[in-house]
Amino acid sequence: MDTPIFSLRPKNNRARIITRRRENESFASPEKDELIIRANSHQFPQEICVIATMGKGKDADIFTPGYRMADPIHCAFVINWKTGIILVEDRSGGSTSLYDNSKLVYSPLNADRGYNRVVVMDNKNSYLVLGKSKATQVIFKIVFSLGLDETLKIIQRRISGASADVQRDFLWTFHGQLPQKEQKKIHHYTLVKLGSGGFGTVWKSVDIYSGDIVAVKEFVPWWTSDSLDREIDALSRFQHPFIIPLYGWYANPRSGSKGRYEMFMPVMQGTLDDLMLRTHSPKETIDIGNAVLLQMLSALDYLACMDFIHRDVKPENILFETDHLGNYVFKLTDFGVSNTIALAQSEVGTETYMAPEMRSDLPQRPKADVWSLFVTMLWVLDVKQFRSLDFKSHLEVQGFVLQNAILNSDIEYMRDMGILNRAVRASAAQMLAKYGRQDLIALGRTERAPDSNRFNAWLWRIWDGRDRWGNYMKRITTERVLRLGLLPPPEPGASPAW
Ligand SMILES: Nc1ncnc2c1ncn2[C@@H]1O[C@H](COP(=O)(O)OP(=O)(O)O)[C@@H](O)[C@H]1O
Ligand SMILES: [Mg+2]
Repeated sequence: MDTPIFSLRPKNNRARIITRRRENESFASPEKDELIIRANSHQFPQEICVIATMGKGKDADIFTPGYRMADPIHCAFVINWKTGIILVEDRSGGSTSLYDNSKLVYSPLNADRGYNRVVVMDNKNSYLVLGKSKATQVIFKIVFSLGLDETLKIIQRRISGASADVQRDFLWTFHGQLPQKEQKKIHHYTLVKLGSGGFGTVWKSVDIYSGDIVAVKEFVPWWTSDSLDREIDALSRFQHPFIIPLYGWYANPRSGSKGRYEMFMPVMQGTLDDLMLRTHSPKETIDIGNAVLLQMLSALDYLACMDFIHRDVKPENILFETDHLGNYVFKLTDFGVSNTIALAQSEVGTETYMAPEMRSDLPQRPKADVWSLFVTMLWVLDVKQFRSLDFKSHLEVQGFVLQNAILNSDIEYMRDMGILNRAVRASAAQMLAKYGRQDLIALGRTERAPDSNRFNAWLWRIWDGRDRWGNYMKRITTERVLRLGLLPPPEPGASPAW
């Protein structure tokens, strides 16, 4: 438990004196040229989130006497127990500062907002300055000996060793920047890139005032920001278990009408396509497929209720995480090209997954997303080696979908989603009703399962050549269709339901 976590390297004379003081002997390195903070440095081990304190009172771990340093504890090093990230907390009423470099240009701790705690990482805020006046300042550089993962292990060991009372009292959650509505920006430091697509780049970042991890999507829009502002505002009001929540967003205005946007959300484990590419067992594939289908139908139904079309539903835009029971939870993300129904008109979305009507002049409706989810399911289940097929055109995809929706008994349970004719295609709510999952339908609405007569009538219409999609059916014999147990053709003269 005496693992070194970081050291304090003196950067001026006053700091050097503190490093050599007898009171601080137990922290000094053998050469006495730095102070080493270890896992067990703090005198009060029951304060599990505190790594060490500095000050002139006897309760301080590191003794820092000094003119102007009136407070018994000047500052504390605390740890975010979820991420292992260390923060410096000012307890002197404003005379602790942190800087990125020794030039001392800008201290995020002293700056405006009144946060008294800020993240320290390798070369981020690593200069610690005690005292306000230049003449009496003490300057140390914080140098880490452990990575985040190892630091996290130390704090986890401490937590598991502590009594329930101590855990309750000291496992506070940091006051971060969320979810303060009026201040939408989250100040953050970038760690690594999580991914990028046609629209922007997503980074894994640290909230600098809490040490929490957040995902930040950064993009430069190519259209005017007014409608975009409204759209992102709408997104940030969505609340659904299978839609990525937005913590907030921020537009950094630049010259002209465009600016750099940042959207803040939780970090997920990965995308559905990553997950499937490492899933090989057929049973697991089916289990994941069922979960994706129900959860995404629920998300799409919610969006339909909100008058929202996503327009880019596909495996890369479905993120996953595992819950406390180890079950997968999927969340729809990337509303980058979505738009409210009234505004939806441009041709967007990824070709393979795009609903047929997206390429026509028809006004767009939420059922477009149901089609895309159907194609997503073909990919997830790799129906008839869908993943390795090389579609030359959008029409080829539609032909493939049509044939499988009609003839493939393995996926008959979701065929109502893969219908080219939007009037006959099921809505998300109808599919949920079909599966008996009223509980997943938004706002407690009641809905009925899709009418199989309607499907049947549509099919025969194709069969008779009265529908332009009939071309795709040429290779399918009447007997095969009849073998599927379809109902007989509708009575001549009976008017179809659409
Ligand atoms: N919250 C998140 N957690 C983890 N990875 C993410 C998150 N958001 C996005 N990603 C990754 O970044 C990629 C691009 O993000 P996305 O929002 O789809 O932007 P784009 O519009 O550029 O496609 C995703 O496919 C995924 O790999
Ligand atoms: Mg995307």
